[in-house]
Amino acid sequence: MVHGAGTGEMRVMLRETRPEDVPRFFEHQTDPEGMWMVGSVRPNHLDRDAFIARWDAILANDTLIKRAIILTHPESAAANTAEIVVGSINCFERVPDPARPCTIFPGPEIGYWLGREHRGKGIASVAVKLFLAEVTRRPLYARAASDNVGSIRVLQKAGFTEIGREMFFANMRGADGKGEEIEETMMVLE
Ligand SMILES: CC(C)(COP(=O)(O)OP(=O)(O)OC[C@H]1O[C@@H](n2cnc3c(N)ncnc32)[C@H](O)[C@@H]1OP(=O)(O)O)[C@@H](O)C(=O)NCCC(=O)NCCS
Repeated sequence: MVHGAGTGEMRVMLRETRPEDVPRFFEHQTDPEGMWMVGSVRPNHLDRDAFIARWDAILANDTLIKRAIILTHPESAAANTAEIVVGSINCFERVPDPARPCTIFPGPEIGYWLGREHRGKGIASVAVKLFLAEVTRRPLYARAASDNVGSIRVLQKAGFTEIGREMFFANMRGADGKGEEIEETMMVLE
């Protein structure tokens, strides 16, 4: 178990993202499997300095809600010790990006990313529910490659429903790293 109340079990919690989390996010978000799941990343995504500079701007922007997903022991949570940063979850207003054209929703989106070794353990399901208890604005939107069944399942379990599908250019897919058009599922939580 990675969450629960029993002594010795690790519990999923969220806290404000801190600058020292960002190098860990870089590790999480440059894993080839994760980039394949997401489908599309920024052209300079693998540039560590650019990644950290982008996060500097995110952390300085008070209109964005950004949380680190951590594992901690319940008995040490109050002291804020012995935590493991396992991922990131955020709420943001998407701005049109010619490099990644897509539907711009009439409200904020959520997005999340776990380190590879932390996937498949139920962590995202817990993290999204904790985040939605804290971020009460509705409707909230989300999108995922239609073959990212884990992400779509996480959203469905949290109450999101499908509102449409569209194609997008996934630069992390296709043969020879050339990218390809793939389908994305758009979802809303009313
Ligand atoms: C998508 C992601 C967040 C899922 O996190 P996770 O902690 O592994 O998800 P959970 O363990 O909570 O699983 C949720 C459900 O999806 C299913 N699932 C998870 N990964 C799956 C996979 N690769 N294939 C099929 N089902 C999967 C689980 O079985 C579970 O279903 P259930 O509750 O009905 O049994 C994680 O894989 C990740 O960070 N991927 C890289 C980044 C990414 O894709 N972010 C989302 C972009 S839209």
